[in-house]
Amino acid sequence: MMSHASDDSMVPLSETDWPLFMKQKVSDPKTVWETHRRAEIVNLFENHIYGKAPDDGFQLAFERLEEKVLEHLNARRLRLATHVKTRLGQLTIKTTLFLPIEKGKPSPVFLGMHLFDSSREIPVIGQPWIGPRGQFPKLAKKEPEVLLKMILNRGYGLATIDANEVDPDEHDGFKNGLHALFHSEKDAPHEKGDWGTLGAWAWGLSRSLDALKTLEVVDARRVIVIGHSRMGKAALWAGAKDERFAMVISNNSGCGGAAISRRMKGETVAHINRVFPHWFCRSFHAYGNRENQLPVDQHMLVALSAPRPVYIASAEKDTWADPFGEFLSAYYASEVYRYYEIEGLDKDVRPVLNHSVGDHVGYHLRSGRHDITAFDWLKYLEFADRHLEP
Ligand code: GCU
Repeated sequence: MMSHASDDSMVPLSETDWPLFMKQKVSDPKTVWETHRRAEIVNLFENHIYGKAPDDGFQLAFERLEEKVLEHLNARRLRLATHVKTRLGQLTIKTTLFLPIEKGKPSPVFLGMHLFDSSREIPVIGQPWIGPRGQFPKLAKKEPEVLLKMILNRGYGLATIDANEVDPDEHDGFKNGLHALFHSEKDAPHEKGDWGTLGAWAWGLSRSLDALKTLEVVDARRVIVIGHSRMGKAALWAGAKDERFAMVISNNSGCGGAAISRRMKGETVAHINRVFPHWFCRSFHAYGNRENQLPVDQHMLVALSAPRPVYIASAEKDTWADPFGEFLSAYYASEVYRYYEIEGLDKDVRPVLNHSVGDHVGYHLRSGRHDITAFDWLKYLEFADRHLEP
């Protein structure tokens, strides 16, 4: 908006006063996207929604903690550590990785948080944690092993980190988890635009990718970041920030994830900030019931995956996550894929229940409720086969 603060502001700028980028001749939208717009949008999401994560002031060290063959799964299980050290302390992010045993070449890997319960010897897929205060209900218990076998048999590895190890899911004024390594009341207080817990989780996913990259058995160019619900929000943000992720998958991520905030359907910005005040940066709190003032909306987050394949999934009864708002994000994000002359999700129609639509931007609406199911996984595997060719 034009400022009317002084008469000067009304004087049109002469061409010599234009910022450099306005003077450059831009030939096509892809160039504008790559040289300016993408970075601008990342900044807007950092400043207004997820907060800024540190890009220096830390050291990393990696360790291989354990390796075991699990005969019954025909799999290898590896545990890796990413040690993060700053002048304020140290924290270890553990990655548990399952790989198909008989594979002559490095495996592509799905990486997420709580894809299975990593504290168990036998993984229980899709069984997330109970929050630090036991307040968060578990998702429905899945058939142990069945999904994992399905994923491994198709040639993929599966890696999980524990969100609570990265940053506990509670509001403590940003004093624990990764935040404690970078902020102290005394000399580096947590500011309004600094990262919240989702930002810390996304950062943790990238540090887990760093650890996976140290392994020859992992095809580091084909690591897929995936998440369900709050972890889906973090997965989208991780994929947006870290272009080393080859593919991005959001399962029922809803408000602050794939759902368009301005629709105010299901969970709203005011609600999410009231109940989970620690998830986003503090600047985001100003947008409760003022969604129209947001300088970005969530389709732009999905677009930050471009030109990499991205998949958004909703569930019919998951009205809290606004399935249609998630679909619209996938649809509108496709514009950036067109800059690359690749097809995103270009059909101007709502998809048929339980069918996958889209090319580089995939989408499905599953019947049933908020969950990550075998159906969802099947679609992700098909999508990954199509784009990553394991
Ligand atoms: C709550 C929250 C959602 C979140 C979900 C989850 O329902 O309101 O935003 O996605 O928890 O993580 O399961």
